[in-house]
Amino acid sequence: MNILVTGGAGYIGSHAVRQLVKAGHNVVILDNLSYGHKQSLPDGVPFYQTDIAETNKVEEILRTHRIEAVMHFAAFISVGESVEKPLRYYRNNTAGAMSLLEAMERAGVKRFVFSSTAATYGEPAEVPIYETTPQNPINPYGRSKWFVEQILKDIAAADPDFRFIAFRYFNVAGASADASIGEDHQPETHLIPLVLFAAMGKRPNIKVFGTDYPTEDGTCIRDYVHVDDLIAAHILAVETLGNAPQAAAANTFYNLGIGRGYSVKEILDASEKVVGGKIPTVHGERRPGDPAKLYANSDKVQKELGWKPQHTDTEEVIATAWKWHTTHPNGYSGSSF
Ligand SMILES: NC(=O)c1ccc[n+]([C@@H]2O[C@H](COP(=O)([O-])OP(=O)(O)OC[C@H]3O[C@@H](n4cnc5c(N)ncnc54)[C@H](O)[C@@H]3O)[C@@H](O)[C@H]2O)c1
Repeated sequence: MNILVTGGAGYIGSHAVRQLVKAGHNVVILDNLSYGHKQSLPDGVPFYQTDIAETNKVEEILRTHRIEAVMHFAAFISVGESVEKPLRYYRNNTAGAMSLLEAMERAGVKRFVFSSTAATYGEPAEVPIYETTPQNPINPYGRSKWFVEQILKDIAAADPDFRFIAFRYFNVAGASADASIGEDHQPETHLIPLVLFAAMGKRPNIKVFGTDYPTEDGTCIRDYVHVDDLIAAHILAVETLGNAPQAAAANTFYNLGIGRGYSVKEILDASEKVVGGKIPTVHGERRPGDPAKLYANSDKVQKELGWKPQHTDTEEVIATAWKWHTTHPNGYSGSSF
């Protein structure tokens, strides 16, 4: 298929580009490089440094490359920043998605795979979290994605030819097996890279927020899905959407997590095994809006799309991240630290 990947120079999008090309699809990348990295772009794949809000330009790209499906990763991702600058998030994540969908409507592109988030559940009433668990996002980032989910349902209701699959990601982690691409967020807020930065001496320590949660070891439990497993689900989705007889599995939402939670302490222990040494740790207070346990039930995506995560051992996931960070100590900027 001819597939446009928005946010294709970012962490998750760059892994999507690699895997789509490997699977034989014709890929076009769109990224405004607000957070993406030019160095992550592979040779020979058309790239447009364009904003999703540039509807006319996006329409032209869709037409020029006869795009059949869009994988939409482009968004701002920092929960904390979204609380301070809500309009920035609604503008980019919600209005930006609307501009993109409008360009698709004009160009007659009817297949859409969307990066939503477990943040749309907020502090859920039950764990594991099912797709039917009530959504109650507690910050503008989560709401900016929740709005897009509602918009997608409305478009699908109005246009019987439009088909979408939206994935609610849990914590995405790891890097490509060859460590040629990996996670390089500025600033980094995710646990595994921060733990590994502490192991590398790039930061003095890792702070554990809350050690008195009602969990076995007192630290928060989260669901970590390897980025390549996550993308494998996207490829199943886009191929399903492109395949009319299977289109029943469309216009729907799937949790993407491995269906098992690991505590912060377990991540630290696994990281110490991977790096072969102690990682300096300090304990802090709980953070507001950080529930004790968040992990997915992912039976629906496994059953309907035939997805099966391959990397369910945290040590293995962390090892891929460690290989990336140690070979790219300053991320894509190249120089050694
Ligand atoms: N990383 C996670 O754990 C996680 C969890 C849940 C959901 N998600 C979602 O996955 C997607 C990708 O996340 P990521 O971790 O790869 O983030 P990232 O910041 O690495 O990648 C996002 C990319 O989108 C680009 N972008 C942002 N706004 C744009 C715009 N208006 N026009 C064009 N390009 C734009 C950025 O330059 C960047 O390259 C996001 O939609 C995010 O909300 C990520």
